[in-house]
Amino acid sequence: MNATMETPANIADALLSLVSPGTVFKRDEPMARHTTLRVGGPADVYVEPVNEKDLSAILKFCNERNAKFFILGRGSNLLVRDAGFRGVVICLAASHFSRVELEGHRIRAGAGAKQKSVAVEAKRNGLSGVEFLEGIPGSIGGALRMNAGAMGSETFNAVESVRVMDYSGVARELKRSEMSVEYRSCAFLKNHIAVSAVFLCTPQPREEIEKRMKIYNEKRWSSQPAAPSAGCLFKNPTAIAAGRLIDELGLKNTRIGGARISQEHGNFLVNDGGATAKDVLELIELLRAKVKAERGIELQTEVEVVGESE
Ligand code: EPU
Repeated sequence: MNATMETPANIADALLSLVSPGTVFKRDEPMARHTTLRVGGPADVYVEPVNEKDLSAILKFCNERNAKFFILGRGSNLLVRDAGFRGVVICLAASHFSRVELEGHRIRAGAGAKQKSVAVEAKRNGLSGVEFLEGIPGSIGGALRMNAGAMGSETFNAVESVRVMDYSGVARELKRSEMSVEYRSCAFLKNHIAVSAVFLCTPQPREEIEKRMKIYNEKRWSSQPAAPSAGCLFKNPTAIAAGRLIDELGLKNTRIGGARISQEHGNFLVNDGGATAKDVLELIELLRAKVKAERGIELQTEVEVVGESE
């Protein structure tokens, strides 16, 4: 074999040699361990940079060596295919990226922080505006990338600025007005990484915030499944909510292997145990075909799909 050829092993060796000792580095890491759906084959390299300097170096390395990478949040909106990912998975789980700090009426949160932590910190300090984040199982980075939403609100409604890093490892701060956002999408973050964000909140009596969060929590637990899932599977089409549509067509409980459409909510696919990404993808295609045939609507997945097929 040519000694200079880029193999997964020598990419991994070279990457390991440039990160700090505090950076978590694993080879052949099963992605099923890192997704709420509990599905996904191994990533060649899994890395948790200890600080921004290491994140920058890893991105620069991937860029220069043409190594594929993706940023993993809490894996709550993600399907990794069964053969895993031939590249580098970067997860901002280190404490440096998970901080949630109060700055007057603002909260600065790292991309690796839980959405719930931001909602709880705001509530604790009598700040309103991010209550809807309470029950979303993802990270702040994921919330920004997806413009995640619930209970009639969405992430960018509350965002004042975002610290971003480009793929060559250079960071800067952007105002909300400099980023174009849509339903479940932020175009800028398709080729930049969110490092942290500032949420601008409004002071309000704590009891009112608590009451609102309790109502949201009850609504969620009464309408969404507790079994492993990746949240809503499809984006809502303009004409009708995807969950209602799937329900109306009698497709709840449709099953392929270990993957099943939830009885509780038609837009959730649950893993009953042992589901593979192949099961999940086949079930998605089955639903899309039935919905297209019966209602003429093209469902778009909200869940992000990455990795290689078997
Ligand atoms: N519905 C049914 N049957 C079902 C499910 C829903 O008839 O099986 C009906 C509901 O009764 C309601 C309508 O469909 O009239 C909409 O349902 P719901 O209120 O549950 O909201 P949704 O549009 O399905 C959205 C977000 C969720 C978020 C909820 C709660 C999308 C794709 N989904 O769901 O976000 O938690 O609102 O506010 O926008 C996610 O993005 O992953 C997600 C779970």
